Amino acid sequence: MKLLAKGLMARGIITLAILVAFTACGGKKAEESTENTEIGVAKDKKEIVVGFSQIGAESAWRMANTTSIKSEAEKRPNIKLIFADAQQKQENQIKALRSFIDQKVDVIAFSPIVESGYGPVLKEAKAAGIPVILTDRNVDLSDDSLWETFMGSNFYEEGVKAGKWLKDNYDRLKLPEKSSDTVNVVELQGTVGSAPANDRFKGFRDGIKDAPQFKITKTQTGDFTRAKGKEVMEAFLKADKNIDVLYAHNDDMALGAIQAIEEAGLKPGKDIIILSVDAVRGAFEAMVEGKLNCTVECSPLLGPQLYDAVEKLMKGEKLPKVIWTQEGVFPQEVAAKTLPSRQY
Ligand code: AHR
Repeated sequence: MKLLAKGLMARGIITLAILVAFTACGGKKAEESTENTEIGVAKDKKEIVVGFSQIGAESAWRMANTTSIKSEAEKRPNIKLIFADAQQKQENQIKALRSFIDQKVDVIAFSPIVESGYGPVLKEAKAAGIPVILTDRNVDLSDDSLWETFMGSNFYEEGVKAGKWLKDNYDRLKLPEKSSDTVNVVELQGTVGSAPANDRFKGFRDGIKDAPQFKITKTQTGDFTRAKGKEVMEAFLKADKNIDVLYAHNDDMALGAIQAIEEAGLKPGKDIIILSVDAVRGAFEAMVEGKLNCTVECSPLLGPQLYDAVEKLMKGEKLPKVIWTQEGVFPQEVAAKTLPSRQY
């Protein structure tokens, strides 16, 4: 018995020694889960530790956003980033936020998967004195003392821009045999309950509200993924091929739907006018091929803005409650010229 206890103790000491050595060498902290990745090593005592919880990797937009957050951290020697991927599950995200609180990071930043359900964990961060920055997506809480600033796109305006573009351009683009009196529009929504899905839904309807010829005949979530966009578009076409317009809440779903439209023997961009949101490279390539008609920009390049805000916070500066990203609208006509300069 004594021997066994001695053995266990010796093993414990060895494990502890390995952990201490590993941490001292700047490796991952022992208590971190494998989903958390640290980027950047403290170069001096002015180190700022930022815990960032990302939604997942559902779209090209999201991957460009992750690259921007990680690569900008690498450029700033005073920033140590702890990055956690929630794999599109809110429970994972809340767990990551709690782990940042336990680790006493200096700032928490995250892109909320959906708008609701973050009240308790944000109150815990506030009680721990850790400032929170919302990036890309907002929450639906009325107590805005729970975060310092929101930085990202105005999703409602993106929806309005898409609706207005359709209203102003449909007659010019439609095939001669198509009617102008009744235009059947189908919609692929983003993740249910997410800010971009809610706001792009509302904005689009407001954008076309004085144009009663546009009838939204079907609307369903495609969860912001290419695979789901294809699957839902296949189902729409199976139910009724009489579709004049597709409005997709992001480019990935539109690209998936384009495949479904081609497989159904129709010409995307001609038989069905297609508009979407994000302005990723894939959308520009599809426009150059004539398969997509317009994309409304939503920039994922939030890294520089994020760490500027973090550094200001650490200096005790007050941040504006909202920092909007400025964005444009890209119709097919400008795609070839614009594609080479796209950063994502
Ligand atoms: O929150 C931004 C949205 O999330 C993008 O439009 C979409 O592509 C992403 O997954």
